[in-house]
Amino acid sequence: MTNEYDCWFQDRRSFTGNETLKAGLREILRTVTAIVPGSLPGEAFEERTAILRQAAMEFLWGLKKCYNLSASLSVSGEESASISNTVYIGLRSNLNKKFSLNLPAVGAEGFVIKVTKTALIIAGEDERGCLYGVYRCLALLALGKLAAETEIAEAPAAPIRMINHWDNIDGSIERGYAGRSLFFNNDRLDYDPQRIADYARLLASVGINRISINNVNVRRAAKLLITEEYLGDVAKLAAIFRPFGIRLMLSINFSAPYGLKDLDTADPLDARVAEWWKKRADLIYRYIPDLAGFLVKADSEGEPGPFQYGRTHGDGANMLAAALKPHNGEVIWRCFVYNSAQDWRDRSVDRVRAAYDNFKPLDGSFADNVLLQVKWGPMDFQLREPVTPLFGALKKTRHLMELQITQEYTGQQIDLCYLPYIWEDIMNFDTAHSEHGKIKELFGSGDRHLLQGGLLQGLAAISNVGLDGNWTGHTLAQANLYGYGRLCWDPSLSAAAIAAEWTGLSFGSGKAADAVNEMLLKSYPALEKYSAPFGAGGMITPHSHYGPNVEGYEYDRWGDYHRITWDRIGIDRSPQGTGYVTQYAPKNAARFADLAQCPENLLLFFHRLPYDYKMKNGQTLLQNIYDTRFEGYEAVEELIKIWESIKGTLNADVYESVYARLKRQLANAREWRDVLNTYFWRKTGIGDAKGRTIYE
Ligand code: GCU
Repeated sequence: MTNEYDCWFQDRRSFTGNETLKAGLREILRTVTAIVPGSLPGEAFEERTAILRQAAMEFLWGLKKCYNLSASLSVSGEESASISNTVYIGLRSNLNKKFSLNLPAVGAEGFVIKVTKTALIIAGEDERGCLYGVYRCLALLALGKLAAETEIAEAPAAPIRMINHWDNIDGSIERGYAGRSLFFNNDRLDYDPQRIADYARLLASVGINRISINNVNVRRAAKLLITEEYLGDVAKLAAIFRPFGIRLMLSINFSAPYGLKDLDTADPLDARVAEWWKKRADLIYRYIPDLAGFLVKADSEGEPGPFQYGRTHGDGANMLAAALKPHNGEVIWRCFVYNSAQDWRDRSVDRVRAAYDNFKPLDGSFADNVLLQVKWGPMDFQLREPVTPLFGALKKTRHLMELQITQEYTGQQIDLCYLPYIWEDIMNFDTAHSEHGKIKELFGSGDRHLLQGGLLQGLAAISNVGLDGNWTGHTLAQANLYGYGRLCWDPSLSAAAIAAEWTGLSFGSGKAADAVNEMLLKSYPALEKYSAPFGAGGMITPHSHYGPNVEGYEYDRWGDYHRITWDRIGIDRSPQGTGYVTQYAPKNAARFADLAQCPENLLLFFHRLPYDYKMKNGQTLLQNIYDTRFEGYEAVEELIKIWESIKGTLNADVYESVYARLKRQLANAREWRDVLNTYFWRKTGIGDAKGRTIYE
C-alpha cells in the first residue's frame, strides 16, 4: 500500500485465484461494452445515463490501476445479440432482453455479476446497481474470489447509506483528526476537484449514496451555505459527486430566517417562517435539483431549535419537511437532544434517558419525509455503552442509526482502533421488541421494511477523512471508513470478514496482510482495557477528549458522571435508581437491571458497585480494574511487535507513519494505566494484589 489517494485500490498485476479463469478473463477484460436503453449515440449516453457511464469508466479505471490492463469501451443498445468475449455492464432488464437471459431481480441498487465461459456480465437493478456491481467485481477479482461460471447477486440492506462531515466553512473540522477539510477553506468552498472525485470513488466503492458536507453545528448564522453567496459553488461540488451516485445534504441552522435578518423569529408555527423556508428550498433546488435534503441539529448543545418558541421537534421538523416535499427532499432530524446545562448536584436528571424521553412520545407525529437520526448509544459514542432503547421502540417513524467513524472518544486516529469490532456487537444487539428484533434485522428498504415493521432506513456516520495524504491520518483507520460502507450494505457482515477484505485489498495476500488483520482485530479490546473500565464511560480530558482525566466531567454541566467515592463506582440505572433500564423492552430491562445477567463490559453503566464486588472470574471489581489496565498497556506492546515483524514488507512511508502513531499510543496507554491505577489506589487505599507498580 502506498500513500496514494486511491487507498484500497491497489496495484496487483498478477491475478490471484483460479488459473483457467485468469487466462480466460484476461481475454474477456479487453473490451467493455456498456448497454444503454435504446440505441443512444455517445453524447446522449453521457448526459442521460451519467451513473451508468461512470460505472463503465470506473471499470476501465480499475483495470488500468489495479492490473495495468487497457480495455476499450463500446456503447450498445438493447437490441438482441449474442454474447461474445466481452465485459457487459448495463441494467439487468436490458441485459436480459439483449441476450435472452434470465437474471433474477435483486432489489433497488443491487446487482448480479455473472461469469460465463466467454463473458463477464455486470447487471445493475438500476444505474447505481451497475456502479456497485463494478466495484464489487473489481474487489472480488483482487481478492481472487471471482470463480468461473458463477453468479453473484447482492443488494444493500437499506436505502440510506450516509456520511456526515463535521467540516466548518473556515476549513477546520470538528473532531477531525486527518487534517483540514476537503471542501472548505477560509469561509469559501475551496477544493481540488480531482481529490473530490477520488473521495467520491472511495465512498461509492463501498456503497455510500449520501453525504452531508458541513458541520451540524452551524453556528455562524451570517455565513450559511443556503445563501446565493455559496449555492453556485455547492452545486459544482454536487456535480462531482452525482455520477458516483452520491447525493448531497446540507446541515442547516434552525434560526436561519432570523439569523439572516429576514424575520424577527424562527418559530416553526409562524406562517411567515414556513413561507421563508419554502422560498429558500425553491431557491436551493434551483441550484441543486437532486439535493437529498437538510440535516438538523436543533435544541442540542446550544444550537437553536423549536424549544425556544415552546414548540416540539415534530413542529420544527414537519415545517421544514413541508418546504422540501415538492422537491423530493428529506429532513434528517438528530435525536442528540439532552440538557447540557445540568447541575451536577441534581440527581433527578440522567442524561442517558434524554433521547428516548424526548422522541418516543413523538413517534408517529412526523411527516413521511422526516427521518430521525439516533446516535447508536444513549450517551455519546463511548467506547462501550449499551445500544439506545429507541431502536425497536420507534414504531411509526423512519429513522437512521448514527455511528462515529472519526475517533473522537476512541483514540483520535493516533491510537489504532478498529471500529467494526463494536459495530458488530451493535448490529447483533437484540432489542427484544419482536421475534426478529436484532438491530441488523430491523434494516429495511422499499416494501421490505413495511412488511417487517422495521423502519430503520440505514446508517449515517461522522467521517474520519481530511486533507492528509492518506485520507485518515492513521493509515490503518482507512479500515474504519471501508468497514462502515460495507456494514451499511450488509449489517450482518462480521468484523473479521470486513478486516480480511480490507487488508486483502490494501496489502494483498501475504505476511503484511495477515499481520494487519491480527492488529485490527486486537485493537478494540486493547483500547477498552486501558481506558474507562466496564462501561463507566468518559474519564477523558475535557474538550479535547484524548487521554485520561477521571473527574474531568464530574463537576460539569454535561451530565457525564460516574460519581466515584472511596467505596463505590458507577450509576444505578435500575428501576430503583434513575429508571433508565425501563426504557428498554421488558426482557432487556430485566437483564440489564439484574447484576447476574448484566454483561460485565456494561456493569458500571448500569450499576453502582462496591470495589470488593466479586466479578465472574472470582476477582474483585477493583482488582479487575487494575488487571485490565496492565493488560491494556501490554496489548499495545504486542501490537507494536506485530507491526515491527512486517518491517520491509510494505511501503516504508506507511510503515514509519503507523509506527510513529503506535509509539504515541503506547505513551497514551501508559498514561491511562497509571492515572487510573493511581486514582483508584488513592481513593480506596487498596493496592494491587499482584504487587505491580502503582505510582502513589
Ligand atoms: C459530541 C461532540 C461534539 C458534537 C456532538 C454532536 O458531543 O463532542 O463535538 O458536536 O457530539 O454529535 O452533535
